[in-house]
Amino acid sequence: MKFLLIFLSFILAANCSEGYKNYKLYDVVPNETQYDALAAWEYIDGVDFFRLTSPNRSSKVLIAPKIQNDFESFLTRNNIVYSILSEDFDVEIEKERESMMETRKMKTGYSIEGTADFSVYWSFAEMDRYLQDLAARYPHRITLENLIFSPEGRHVWAVKISSGVFGQKPIIGMETGMHAREWAAPPTSFYLIDKLVTDEAIAAELLARVDWLIVPMQNPDGYEWSRTPNNRLWRQNRRQITPTCTGADLNRNFAYSWRAATVACGNLTYPGPFALSEPEDFVLHEVMERYRQNLRMYLSVHTFGDLVLFPWGYSDNPGPLPLNNVEEHIHVGNIFRDAILAATGKDYFVVNSLNYFGNINGAVDDNMLAAVGADLAYTLELTDGFSFLYPEDRILALSEETFVGYRALGRYIGETYG
Ligand SMILES: *[C@@H]1O[C@H](CO)[C@@H](O)[C@H](O)[C@H]1NC(C)=O
Ligand SMILES: *[C@@H]1O[C@H](CO)[C@@H](O)[C@H](O)[C@H]1NC(C)=O
Ligand SMILES: *[C@@H]1O[C@H](CO)[C@@H](O)[C@H](O)[C@H]1NC(C)=O
Repeated sequence: MKFLLIFLSFILAANCSEGYKNYKLYDVVPNETQYDALAAWEYIDGVDFFRLTSPNRSSKVLIAPKIQNDFESFLTRNNIVYSILSEDFDVEIEKERESMMETRKMKTGYSIEGTADFSVYWSFAEMDRYLQDLAARYPHRITLENLIFSPEGRHVWAVKISSGVFGQKPIIGMETGMHAREWAAPPTSFYLIDKLVTDEAIAAELLARVDWLIVPMQNPDGYEWSRTPNNRLWRQNRRQITPTCTGADLNRNFAYSWRAATVACGNLTYPGPFALSEPEDFVLHEVMERYRQNLRMYLSVHTFGDLVLFPWGYSDNPGPLPLNNVEEHIHVGNIFRDAILAATGKDYFVVNSLNYFGNINGAVDDNMLAAVGADLAYTLELTDGFSFLYPEDRILALSEETFVGYRALGRYIGETYG
């Protein structure tokens, strides 16, 4: 066993990053002429686009030391507007790690003796235990279905919340934790689940006419991997795709509009070898499809950008279907936005995904709308200004704030479709 572990860590050390020492984070705003040249950096080794948007908008990209000179001279040569957000991203990651360790000396995320503490980032084991305890305590409101064991053997829970028999009312489906490094999204699901199940007034309001089908941690292997040293920026799942490559982008792997990769496995947005090749996506698709008769809204919750994105996100052949309820998508997107604006002053931007990000194939929101048949689908990009390192001491406030938006959506679905 010990030899195996030593052997494994040797392989990992050989295969994976050695942290992010001297990696620089850039904010880059290319205009239309400059855009394609910037986008061409996407699949170069040492480049990690935290987000690549469309022309005239800010894109954020992390660049490894070995290509910083090339990258900066490229920017200068093309007169591309940019600024440096971090001179050494490893320092930021280390700060996060140390601060979380300090917090953990005083707090437990979830333990069976205690109450749930939504002010810390939970380990997957805590999420797992919390859900099972909650289901044991409130069997009349919540049922858990293990959709599958992940490639590394963790539960991928679907949480079904209903005041009666699940699946007879309009359903809001949602998932968080699809992208491993986007840590701030899953806490908002756990907070929502807790409210729906344990708060009598909220349950009376939000379960009267709506059922909720929530996959709060869709990519537990990726999440746990991103919690280990040097892997904080992992995005994909952890399935062994080839003998030398691990992980596909779960938000490029859905069947609707899926496209085979033009780049090798290992790239951040590698879409998997075939549509729904990744078990975490296959089962998410399957469970939503099983309840498609009642699936009125689907939410895919990510970070970052303070965005409410609505379909379509793809544009290539044969081109997007007409979206016959685009007005409703904008209206309901604004219900989420307005509720949060009124409560906290934070201003989300409601925008079409294709317009904001450019073409994306195989994404979950398009899939839930076109292939599964939800009436409304959104990708939410929570938080802005912290990249993926959203400070732990802000996540409770974020969860409370986002709950205001979820609640407004729940009311809308109840009133309109209930
Ligand atoms: C980008 O900005 C330029 C200059 O303001 C403008 O002419 C152009 O239409 C903009 N393009 C997009 C795609 O917004
Ligand atoms: C983009 O910026 C470059 C450099 O300033 C300039 O030469 C080019 O005309 C700009 N293109 C547009 C569409 O504004
Ligand atoms: C991304 O794909 C390109 C083109 O196939 C390949 O050269 C490169 O090694 C891949 N990057 C990573 C990080 O695997």
